[in-house]
Amino acid sequence: MEDTALECIGARKVFRVKKETRPETHLSTEWSVASAAGDPGGQDAAQPGTHGGKQGPGVNGHGAAIGATNGRHRGRLALSRAMATLFPRSVPVEAVSGVTFSVKRGEIFGILGPNGSGKSTLIRLISTLLLPDDGEIRVFGHDVVRERFAVRRLINRVSVEAAFFKKLSAMENLSYAARLYDVDIRQARRTAIEILKRLGFGENKAYEPLEDLSRGMQQKVAVARALLTSPVLLLLDEPTTGLDPVSKREVQDYVLEVRDSHDTTVILTTHDMQEADRLCDRVAIIDQGRFVALDTPMHLKAGLGRNGDGEAATLEDVFFALTGKALKESHPEEGD
Ligand SMILES: Nc1ncnc2c1ncn2[C@@H]1O[C@H](COP(=O)(O)OP(=O)(O)OP(=O)(O)O)[C@@H](O)[C@H]1O
Ligand SMILES: [Mg+2]
Repeated sequence: MEDTALECIGARKVFRVKKETRPETHLSTEWSVASAAGDPGGQDAAQPGTHGGKQGPGVNGHGAAIGATNGRHRGRLALSRAMATLFPRSVPVEAVSGVTFSVKRGEIFGILGPNGSGKSTLIRLISTLLLPDDGEIRVFGHDVVRERFAVRRLINRVSVEAAFFKKLSAMENLSYAARLYDVDIRQARRTAIEILKRLGFGENKAYEPLEDLSRGMQQKVAVARALLTSPVLLLLDEPTTGLDPVSKREVQDYVLEVRDSHDTTVILTTHDMQEADRLCDRVAIIDQGRFVALDTPMHLKAGLGRNGDGEAATLEDVFFALTGKALKESHPEEGD
């Protein structure tokens, strides 16, 4: 097998996001001008003379003019609403903007970035769930677009919002997954029990409906499911989010063990800087779809030297220094 597990050359993904159009807003100024001119609904003005009194032609004429204006406004408003429904405006969102990197076989490669910076999109591109708009991505030499089935045989993914049959138990879900992946069912059951035990998942819990288990326990089942097929490239999208410190440690230890025992390559996204520091051989920091740094945690920290308090920089300091926007977002009072 090749020594390069993943090659990503200029990968780019643009989403078209429907923009909320509010035709009322465009017309509201004119509408309120017309209303302020003396006819809130435009109803009366459409029927000159209904006020009963002797109104001069000027008054009635003015009312009729307002009525006609409001009628036009209503027409435009209706048309504008219909157009917005039929042809919603969309704006491009460049989630991944020409990212280039490669990952060696057996490496644990971390991707850190603020919310919405493109981590999950990049993972989805690698896992063939999304098609890139530009660039090339190869998993052990197989192109994710042209050879997606070959790629799918080599990978598995754990996402932070893993989907399960919640009425079924962990074991039932794992057996189902084993059938889906065409893994020998007996072997799969043995492997599943082994992995769950290793992840600190009590055996008694393995037969309870998943909906009765905590989110952290369910997350462990997601990790176990991804490992059933012994993937050579494991894509972990925030695998430990929501886990307590002990469970986090159990999952992290297991990831290290799997890499060492099965020569598995791991791409890991996380918001936990200590986790990245502990697990990753190299780390990329992504911001607004672009890699703003890529190095070993040690080099990244050494590059910054000391933090604002004069202490040796942590990976968190590096992250904040490189993605100032994230710092402002998480501490709005420090923003501009
Ligand atoms: N299916 C989609 N349709 C439209 N826009 C999307 C879609 N998925 C992601 N985006 C947009 O792409 C950008 C990157 O999103 P992504 O989910 O990759 O970020 P992330 O780094 O994983 O964030 P988080 O840390 O919150 O998980 C965001 O602006 C997001 O709104
Ligand atoms: Mg994400």
